Amino acid sequence: MIRYLILTFILISNCEYSKPVLEFFPDMYDSYAVEAQEFDSYNNDYGRRIPPEGTIPVNYFPYPFQSEPTPDDLKNSEKGLVNPMKNLSLADYKRGEERYQIFCSPCHGVRGAGNGPVVGPAPRFPAPVPSMLTENVTKWTDGQIYHMITMGRGRMSSYAAQIESDDRWKIIAYIRKLQEADKKGLNK
Ligand code: HEC
Repeated sequence: MIRYLILTFILISNCEYSKPVLEFFPDMYDSYAVEAQEFDSYNNDYGRRIPPEGTIPVNYFPYPFQSEPTPDDLKNSEKGLVNPMKNLSLADYKRGEERYQIFCSPCHGVRGAGNGPVVGPAPRFPAPVPSMLTENVTKWTDGQIYHMITMGRGRMSSYAAQIESDDRWKIIAYIRKLQEADKKGLNK
């Protein structure tokens, strides 16, 4: 009988505490490391500290060019933003094509002529959508287009949250192919 009483006591007494009141042979189940929200008597503070300045989450790459692309700013982004992707494979171009057709073609058109399905007489789309095949964009550096995708401008919003960095460069590679094809008259 007394055994059951003790057992009941142990079970019930566990209910209200975040840590067991009584532990038999805990061995090494509990780590001495402080949990995030746990009071840390050693530091007289809580476990979660303010991270040191400059700390970044895993897989997050800070983007240094934070302004909306103005013509001047684009010149700046050109300096620092060099396309890191060399020797793209066919699979990379295909990925670029797929991402372009998903994210850019609704406005900029399947072949980049600025005539995507959402563009039409106002008020269908409130601003004219520029073509990707103009001399203007052809002359832009890859970094400038990258900056445009990352920050957006005017009626075009930023696509940084939807398109990963590598995919942005692949989209640009695909846009270059569209421009080449247009120059050769293949888009007509
Ligand atoms: C919702 C429609 C829309 C989508 C989707 C869109 N854009 Fe745009 N884009 C625009 C508009 C509108 C402008 C003109 C912005 C302005 O008025 O400053 C523009 C401008 C641009 C320019 C600058 C062209 C120039 O001549 O100044 C580039 C480059 C560009 N977009 C690339 C892209 C790429 C790459 C994608 C896909 C990742 C994309 N856009 C997706 C609407 C869109």
